[in-house]
Amino acid sequence: MKTRITELFGIEHPIIQGGMHYVGLAEMAAAVSNAGGLGIITGLTQGTPEKLANEIARCREMTDKPFGVNLTFLPSVTPPDYPGLVDCIIKSGVKVVETAGNNPAKWLPQLKEAGIKVIHKCTSVRHSIKAQEIGCDAVSVDGFECGGHPGEDDIPNFILLPRAADELEIPFVASGGMADARSLVASLAMGAEGMNMGTRFIATKEAPVHENVKQAILGASELDTRLVMRPLRNTERVLTNDAVERLLEKEKQLGAHIKFEDVAGEVAGVYPKIMTQGTMDAGAWSCGMVAGLVYDIPTVQELVDRIMSEADALIGERLARFAAA
Ligand SMILES: Cc1cc2nc3c(=O)[nH]c(=O)nc-3n(C[C@H](O)[C@H](O)[C@H](O)COP(=O)(O)O)c2cc1C
Repeated sequence: MKTRITELFGIEHPIIQGGMHYVGLAEMAAAVSNAGGLGIITGLTQGTPEKLANEIARCREMTDKPFGVNLTFLPSVTPPDYPGLVDCIIKSGVKVVETAGNNPAKWLPQLKEAGIKVIHKCTSVRHSIKAQEIGCDAVSVDGFECGGHPGEDDIPNFILLPRAADELEIPFVASGGMADARSLVASLAMGAEGMNMGTRFIATKEAPVHENVKQAILGASELDTRLVMRPLRNTERVLTNDAVERLLEKEKQLGAHIKFEDVAGEVAGVYPKIMTQGTMDAGAWSCGMVAGLVYDIPTVQELVDRIMSEADALIGERLARFAAA
């Protein structure tokens, strides 16, 4: 399938794997890129420029297809070495960066100068327009359904995507709640030129996470996610577990007085325990409502091939039938 997104990134299928902390390692990114999509290494999981350079080199050994690096800009008391990470990406020759979090304007001149295409992930139309204005090449429009940080506007993709289509000139992909061919074809119908998946890619054979994580997604329904840290205006959609319910209870009791330190036990340093060790009650970890649409753990190639062949059938048969009638 050819869209402005496949053309922009030089990929076969308009499917992107969003950056995911402790999931977006070289194995994940290479598997998605080898399957014809765009795999993304998560920069902050590596943390230092040296480790990121090493991860990029590992990914190169596993694929000769294009892949990208995610840079999530978060407010932090001890910020990561962003200048060093940007420098490392440029020197490594990676040609795609997925930015997320704060406005990436500060880093764009350097990235563009190096011929890097930038796709900014954002959860609102106004931030998408801003991304276009500052020179991003594309946006990933992340609806309220998404795993991770949906922002504070709570606009689901059935509204957000057509609104983005009405306002944007640069191409965008639909993100949040994407699982299968139906997601892709519906996104295309609403004006997107592809889709970005997070949660769905974790439940694949190649995802470099503990088997317990994959089984948790497989066993979850669309009712099993919760929004945490809303009172801190840092809302995150996570899979429910004991730690999450404890956290929500604290939010209820502390109300407006809550501080990050009150919930740090449930959210700080949790990812290695969950993703690597499989200790599923260790804390809150991002997961989308789309878990309810995950029924198996295929290889990435099987997943991508299935999406693309079913998308062809949906467009060529089901939709064509309605058009003919
Ligand atoms: C476990 C997990 C970790 C994530 N970590 C990050 C991250 O570090 N940076 C980022 O920009 N997005 C992160 N995301 C968001 C994804 O890139 C993607 O936007 C989101 O998962 C899309 O929604 P979906 O899960 O419904 O597909 C994460 C998502 C998950 C599920």
